[in-house]
Amino acid sequence: MRTVGCIGCGNMGGAILGGLVDALGDSYAFAGHTRTPGRIAPLAAKGVRVKPDAHALARDSEIIILAVKPYQIAAVVEEILPALNSDKLLISIAAGVSLKRLKDLCRGASPMARCMPNTPALVGEGVFALCLEDEALSQTSKDEVLALFGALGLCLPLTEAQFTAFSALVGAGPAYVFEMMRGLVQAGVTLGFPHQQARELVVALFAGSARLAGEREEHLMQLRDAVCSPAGLTIAGVNHLDRAGLAGLLVEAVLKANTRGREMEE
Ligand SMILES: NC(=O)c1ccc[n+]([C@@H]2O[C@H](COP(=O)([O-])OP(=O)(O)OC[C@H]3O[C@@H](n4cnc5c(N)ncnc54)[C@H](OP(=O)(O)O)[C@@H]3O)[C@@H](O)[C@H]2O)c1
Repeated sequence: MRTVGCIGCGNMGGAILGGLVDALGDSYAFAGHTRTPGRIAPLAAKGVRVKPDAHALARDSEIIILAVKPYQIAAVVEEILPALNSDKLLISIAAGVSLKRLKDLCRGASPMARCMPNTPALVGEGVFALCLEDEALSQTSKDEVLALFGALGLCLPLTEAQFTAFSALVGAGPAYVFEMMRGLVQAGVTLGFPHQQARELVVALFAGSARLAGEREEHLMQLRDAVCSPAGLTIAGVNHLDRAGLAGLLVEAVLKANTRGREMEE
């Protein structure tokens, strides 16, 4: 059985490894190494084999997920370098560390993929961009990466050049959604609902609306209009959002994030 190992089992690495164990525990063995031993205890309880150091993890795993902070990547790759070879597959989730930099760090020893998750991955509902542009990646490896992250949520193969746009829309996306939720909770409190109750209502509202949008074929405008009875209360609220330009504001927010992302790449 092939082993998937993860170096850095913090928030994102821990969530990804834990999710993979739940989804693919019958198909793969799993290993983990992280700096603070206490953080890996919940994963060990799920059957993840705890490795004493990054080198041992890389030696004993066919697929190695790098999930340390971007500034820690170079030191970790240096440590695992002697264990790398062309039969291993490296997957980095470090934001902003390019494929070229990763390949340079590992001196081209192993094929490499990049993955960009968003924070709902922490609760098993992530969206993952995957860069599979490394020429050293075989079709089998590409399929395997897609199958691994496909088991965790929606995953989308993208060019590395598209990663910034993905980050501006989907990586940053939870912040936009939470901001909209915050405003609606505030409205609920203003109308007399206790805060906790307003929050529960708004969370259920988003979850149900997201499911409806996901399952129906209709254009989003049709779904919106279906809620708006003639001369009713919804159209009064929607008219105000139109006047305030909510859709335009969202477009601007994503474009500004994209611009900032491009600046940061330079
Ligand atoms: N969180 C997000 O929303 C998100 C989204 C997209 C991408 N990412 C990427 O995911 C990566 C991890 O982020 P995170 O939020 O999960 O950070 P995190 O919670 O700090 O996790 C990083 C983990 O790596 C461990 N670590 C550091 N150096 C190590 C080493 N030399 N050997 C083994 N373990 C080591 C840390 O140990 P300690 O516990 O001792 O600090 C920590 O547990 C980052 O590269 C980030 O860019 C995160």
